[in-house]
This record gives sequence, structure tokens and C-alpha cells, in this order.
Amino acid sequence: MNSRTPLTRGRFITLEGAEGVGKSTLLPVVLETLKEFNIEVCCTREPGGTPLGEQLREVLLGTEEAMSSKAELLMMFASRAQHIESIIEPALARGTWVLCDRFTDASFAYQGGGRQMGAKKIAVLESWVQEGLQPDLTLLLDASRATSIERTQRRRELDRIESEGDGFFERVRLAYLERAKNDPQRMVVIDANPDFETVCETMRKTLLPKLEQWADQLADV
Ligand code: TMP
Repeated sequence: MNSRTPLTRGRFITLEGAEGVGKSTLLPVVLETLKEFNIEVCCTREPGGTPLGEQLREVLLGTEEAMSSKAELLMMFASRAQHIESIIEPALARGTWVLCDRFTDASFAYQGGGRQMGAKKIAVLESWVQEGLQPDLTLLLDASRATSIERTQRRRELDRIESEGDGFFERVRLAYLERAKNDPQRMVVIDANPDFETVCETMRKTLLPKLEQWADQLADV
């Protein structure tokens, strides 16, 4: 938990992973698991989550103009700044939990790794925009590039970022794994290679002990 927060504050959970790992399929299962604990959850996403953020998302994923990596990174953080201020912080402050489909780990993975911008400048933006806010738990879905390609090929149309090449997504994957290695308390890597039922089972096995632990802490208040 964030040290600056009281125990009644909501928990902040993020779901991450490269394209084709099955994140969208898993998200409703995570949401259901939280609801089993009668937890009030605000489910949201990045880029997006606010009217301004959703407009930025359309530009980020849909524009046909060649986009500078710096512009891309700054728009991700512009969306995040609005999201934190108007949705995430107010929800956590009133005790609602937040489940976010991607957050800053995606900037480190896609812009830092994929676009090869490195981590330093991203860390500066992270510190400025988030003012100490960090997820309490991040579930990182990880699958081999071959599995991910097979899954993305089933999709109709690829957006601007999904259309990047193999090298880009290899770097995204490695940058995610590097982040998880450096922050194992917060980031849990889930093997997303097997079939949906097996991945669900792994996800629940990861999440349930955490929820039980947090529920105990809340009961002790
Ligand atoms: P998705 O949320 O529908 O998976 O798609 C969002 C896309 O935006 C995905 O390709 C990852 C990318 N992205 C970044 O490049 N940087 C970021 O900081 C975030 C949040 C997403």
C-alpha cells in the first residue's frame, strides 16, 4: 500500500501485458474475483478513462500521421494526468478500488522499450505526474511472441501501435519483464501461454491470497 495513505483507502490494481497476451479476456475475470469480495471497483483504462483521455486515445491509436516518440509519450502522460486527477485519486480516496487496464508500466515497456527511449525521462514524468501514486498490485500477463502473434492474427484490424513489428514487441516484452524483476513485490508475472481456463486459474491463485490479506487488514482497522 502507498505509505501516505490511510487503511480505508481503496487499492489500486493494474493489468499489463504486450499485445495478444489475452488481457481483454482476463479483465472481466479479475473484476468478478474482486466483486466476490464485495469490493466496490472502478474499472478503467489507459490511455483513456476520461473524456479527454479517450480523445487522446483516438489520436494515439488512430492517427495516420507519423508520430514523434516524444509526442506519443507526452500524450500517454497527458491522458494519465487527467485520469489520476479526475478518476483514480478521487476513487481511491473514497475507498473505492481501481482496476486499471494498463498504467505507467506500459509507458516503460512501449515507449521505454519498444521505442527505445530508455527509462530515465519516463521516470521523471512518472514522478511529476503521479506524485508518489503507484499501483498496489500489477498483474503482468506474459506470453511468447509466437502465442501473441497467433492471438492478434484473429483480430480484424490492427491499430497504429499493434501494427509495429516483431522487434518492437520483443523489446516491449523484455522491458515489462525487467520492470517485474526490479519490483517483484508489486508486479506478479502470470504465464499467459496456456489456454484461457489455465490462465484464469493462475490469475485467481495470485489474486485470492492478496485479497484475503487485504481484507484481514481492513477488518483490523
Ligand atoms: P489496449 O489498452 O487496448 O491494449 O491498447 C492501448 C495501446 O496503447 C497498446 O498498444 C499499448 C499502448 N500504450 C503505450 O504505448 N503506452 C502507455 O503508456 C499505455 C498506457 C498504452
